[in-house]
Amino acid sequence: MSKLTLAEEALRRRTFAIIAHPDAGKTTLTEHILLSGGAIRAAGAVRARGENRRTRSDWMKIEKERGISVSASVMTFEHDGKMFNLLDTPGHEDFSEDTYRTLTAADCAIMVLDAAKGIEPQTLKLFEVCRLRDIPIITFINKLDREAQDPMTLLDDIASRLQLDPAPIWWPAESGNRLRGMVELGTGRFQPYARKVPGAAEDAGHPDALPLADAGQYFEAGEQQALTEALELVEGGYPAFDRQSFLEGHLTPVLWGSALRHFGIDQLLAAIGDWAPAPKSLPALRVEGRGSRGEKASGGGKEDLSTLDPRPSTLVDPASPEVTGFVFKVQANMDPNHRDRIAMFRMASGSFRRGMKLKVQNTGKSLSVNAPIMFFASDRELAEDAYAGDVIGIPNHGVLRVGDSLSESGLIRFAGLPNFAPEILQRVRVKDPLKAKHLKKALDGLAEEGVTQLFRPEIGADFIVGAVGQLQFEVMADRLGEEYGLEVIFEPSPYAEARWIMPVEGGDKADVEDFMSKYRGQMARDLDQAPVFLAKSSWETGYVMERFPKVAFTKTRERG
Ligand code: G4P
Repeated sequence: MSKLTLAEEALRRRTFAIIAHPDAGKTTLTEHILLSGGAIRAAGAVRARGENRRTRSDWMKIEKERGISVSASVMTFEHDGKMFNLLDTPGHEDFSEDTYRTLTAADCAIMVLDAAKGIEPQTLKLFEVCRLRDIPIITFINKLDREAQDPMTLLDDIASRLQLDPAPIWWPAESGNRLRGMVELGTGRFQPYARKVPGAAEDAGHPDALPLADAGQYFEAGEQQALTEALELVEGGYPAFDRQSFLEGHLTPVLWGSALRHFGIDQLLAAIGDWAPAPKSLPALRVEGRGSRGEKASGGGKEDLSTLDPRPSTLVDPASPEVTGFVFKVQANMDPNHRDRIAMFRMASGSFRRGMKLKVQNTGKSLSVNAPIMFFASDRELAEDAYAGDVIGIPNHGVLRVGDSLSESGLIRFAGLPNFAPEILQRVRVKDPLKAKHLKKALDGLAEEGVTQLFRPEIGADFIVGAVGQLQFEVMADRLGEEYGLEVIFEPSPYAEARWIMPVEGGDKADVEDFMSKYRGQMARDLDQAPVFLAKSSWETGYVMERFPKVAFTKTRERG
């Protein structure tokens, strides 16, 4: 049992995710953050851990064949009196939906940029999700050991393309072969870069920081002088770090380094510890009585649409005593011999103890959490206790779904875990017609895990499956075969886009019903029975949006 108060436990938590365009160095950085945090002893452990997981798990064959990381998990470590929860997000763009959801469980994001490339398409997409959710961002510009773009160009790009004020904390002294180190703005401390000497041990380490004026030995003729002059310009040209502005998402502190050479990593970890926010109060609904799922008429179209857009009515303080939180991911088949599922539960408040009974708000079901898992960097352990900000894995047999809210009272429902409109919609059919019934169950299961989304058209018996990327279909086909013995065929569907519909702010549900009756042939229901309009083209989406101004056509839907 902790000797700290609930508020103190929450205050020392840092729950963060790393966002990056593939190849910017997210995996390498993850590993080196764990090294700096003392959570692992040698580089290579993260990759090795991945390899083990892959051999243990059948469906991840695809992952292995393609060398991509499909599943997201969490790595917990304690360092410098703080508990860090690093949420791992898949890098491949086809799985960005998973990444988006993981970001809902993060209080801060580290945006990794390749110093030679700057902002890339996936960086932009992920950044937008962070902005949508007001997640503060620390920028780490990686690969300084290679020839980089001019630092000012990189910062100007952040300012103009992300509308985010970059506040450089350090300033690099050149890059690539000429990389000498970096200077801390304000203090003038110089952190020398240790060039890798052929044959030297990997972890020889970088020399200690010292005042720039005393660092002549690390520079060639004229360089130190040029750097000192450049710094005057830099210090006047960019905003100083302002924590409030960072927490509000207007400003990003910028750090530099080389993940591969373990340069700048201690500084980054310190910045996360010092500046990243502790878990904050989360908006939620306090629902007296049971919620919607399981009670609604299926597909009848008669339910009360007002329940689809819940307004937060309370703020859950991380230091309040009741255990509350939500499931942001369901990981299946960590062990293929048991069809187990592990729900990743992000705690929002309270003091969790193993064996505790929690209730699922959406369904009213309750479960005893006897074997919760804490994911430490090198191992998993039974979680004896956990606090706001922590992520624990709850093994279950299909009771928990992505987006479920759990609490001791069963009355707290968190808003804010979105489904994202898929970018590809396909019809799925099972080869053996006798197995059609099984298909529904299997598709429901995969949709509950969040592998793909499932839409049932109001008319007809089709299953329309939606995904953000083609690869999701392949994972799905593979899993349907391996786990459910179903051979399926994906066929093109006539639909190009899906939009959830609801009344606009201040609107009337009659307007939505009017639209639904006019477009019955293109209406479908998602897994929660929420109405979805399937458009044949983006032009059609634009057209209906113009024609039905009192109906909101949304690209995301927050489960509730
Ligand atoms: P990702 O998870 O964001 O996709 O990137 P990952 O860490 O896998 O890094 C992508 C490539 O960039 C890897 O090289 C990695 O070694 C390299 N890299 C990461 N950080 C740095 C850095 O600071 N400096 C340099 N020079 N390279 C870096 P690879 O050749 O694709 O893989 P590998 O054979 O090295 O594993």
